Amino acid sequence: MSDQPSSLHGDVYHPVPEIARQANVPNPELYYKEASEDLEGYWDRRAKELEWYAPWTKVLDDSNKPFFKWFIDGKTNIVLNALDRHVKTWRRNKLALIWEGETGELRTFSYHALNREVTHFSGVLRSMGISKGDRVTIYLPRIPEAWIAMLACAKVGAVHSVVYGGFSVEALHGRIEDSGSRLIITADGGYMGGKIVELKNIVDEALTRTAHPENVIVVRRTGKPVNMEAGRDFWYHELMSLPLTRNASKVETEVMDAEDPLFILYTSGTTGKPKAIVHTHGGYQVGVYATLHDVFDLKEEDRWWCTADPGWITGHSYIVYGPLLNGATSFMYEGGPTYPFPDRWWSMIAKYGINIFYTTPTAIRGLMRFGEAWPNRHDLSTLRLLGSVGEPINPEAWRWFHKNVGKEKCPIMDTWWQTETGAFMITPMPAIPTKPGSATRPYPGVEMDIVDEKGVPVKTGEEGFLVIKKPWPAMMRTIYNDPERYVQTYWSKFPGMYLAGDSARRDEDGYYWIIGRVDDVIKVSGYRLGTAELESAFVSHHAVAETAVIGLPHELKGVAIHAYVILKAGHEPSEALIEELRHHIAHEMGPIAKPERIEFVKSLPKTRSGKIMRRVLKARALGISEGDISTLEE
Ligand code: WT7
Repeated sequence: MSDQPSSLHGDVYHPVPEIARQANVPNPELYYKEASEDLEGYWDRRAKELEWYAPWTKVLDDSNKPFFKWFIDGKTNIVLNALDRHVKTWRRNKLALIWEGETGELRTFSYHALNREVTHFSGVLRSMGISKGDRVTIYLPRIPEAWIAMLACAKVGAVHSVVYGGFSVEALHGRIEDSGSRLIITADGGYMGGKIVELKNIVDEALTRTAHPENVIVVRRTGKPVNMEAGRDFWYHELMSLPLTRNASKVETEVMDAEDPLFILYTSGTTGKPKAIVHTHGGYQVGVYATLHDVFDLKEEDRWWCTADPGWITGHSYIVYGPLLNGATSFMYEGGPTYPFPDRWWSMIAKYGINIFYTTPTAIRGLMRFGEAWPNRHDLSTLRLLGSVGEPINPEAWRWFHKNVGKEKCPIMDTWWQTETGAFMITPMPAIPTKPGSATRPYPGVEMDIVDEKGVPVKTGEEGFLVIKKPWPAMMRTIYNDPERYVQTYWSKFPGMYLAGDSARRDEDGYYWIIGRVDDVIKVSGYRLGTAELESAFVSHHAVAETAVIGLPHELKGVAIHAYVILKAGHEPSEALIEELRHHIAHEMGPIAKPERIEFVKSLPKTRSGKIMRRVLKARALGISEGDISTLEE
């Protein structure tokens, strides 16, 4: 475009003129300017693009920092704009969801059909006594019922807590217990990479450890026999066919306050058990709607595919809610990317004519390994935009993706954000020049900085802590049941600034380059895991006395888990024990948490106050300087 700055430094990919000119945001500079001059005015304008039951009287209330509130007195429900608004228009006949199972089956839902299923299931939830504020745990494979369950919870005002189907017994138990869920929605199983994940069995085992949920609803997916406890467990399809719920097509969407919680989602932090991040009906809705609209440029005729799982924030914001808020057509695939062959994804892009494709660096690196013949044998010419999320994308993977998938004509939107931020924070737009490996610039209204240990902004090119200096609508509101931890974790290191937990650099063009986590969060293949949760899974094994877990660089996974284990007296190191421990971690936490390497040690480096110095373990493993070890007791 003619008004692009031509003086950008480094390896720059300029916008594709045909795409940029017709983009939803053809001139991003106007948005940046508008939002930086009048943050509240900007979000007021964007919120008015959606429908509300009652308007807000004030955009932002920052009188009780860091407990910010957005769209004060506004009345809404995310379902009002995700479904209700569309079924009143021609969009009732538009596809909301196209789904392909790993085993090849196809299911499609128009907005009308999705709304009908959601409404019926809302009736089921009501008939089971679920109402405003109740927590419901959703533990499902990547199937349409995950959408229906989430949306039905939202419709009746219940707070969903989705647990990723790749998590296992102890991870699930902890999340059920902490949320105090009254109901669990699960399936007999799901298909992943040619195998069946037996979700209901995992639920049964988790429920032996807690008294909480009263009921379990089970979706039939695999048809394999499962244990159904009379009075507690119910089949989804049976409940959905009861006359009671058939008559429930009149269930009205619950009117919610903008600040009422929509969901909680557990994520790992530095210490202790996972935190339940709270998101709202109002601000989250506006943020997710606007970012997806602007960044991925959804057009009425587009088909969008985000390859994440609904169990992570990416799935909440950009598989389920964001596309529906934009009235878009989404594609979702149940299974693994290489099943039965490494071109499964490319074949579905061609088969369904996908226009916008959003995935992760780890998936790209994994598929790159099989060579470009796999994407090249499919017609990928419908693609217009590509996206990346979850971890820094290495420039080799960026270029491979750009060349072999995007055929050098699709800009790549590398989006930096977090469970806590709810929506994109650092991201290009189609009319912004990109640089491989940089997420480019903060989204309009997002004021970020990079600061040193004292909170002072660092110089251009220097590494520091990534912080956010102004509130944004989709921001987390608190940690469920633990507001003090919210203040402590995010707002106490640098007063007045949100601490993201990442280190980053900014270049001479103001572009951000994320380096990685500075805390004890490990991003294995882009999945966020905490050392504390992993270590507690280790010590729940009878042979383990103590353990320390660190993340070390890995070619495909980005970061892989390495564990140092001290055995209890009477247990000897052996290959068999290593296998047993890996199996134990997979059973308790899930397959994604399986350690790369387990090493038996006699002691662990600790501070004199007894804190494990993971930094020292990491430095030793990498053969680099251990840094300041004056506090080390050994
Ligand atoms: C952490 C948050 C899956 C949705 C976002 C992940 C890392 C995320 C990028 C990116 C470099 C990234 C950061 C962040 N991260 N996106 N584009 N470039 N790093 O949500 O699971 O809460 O993880 O993911 O380290 O802090 P999450």
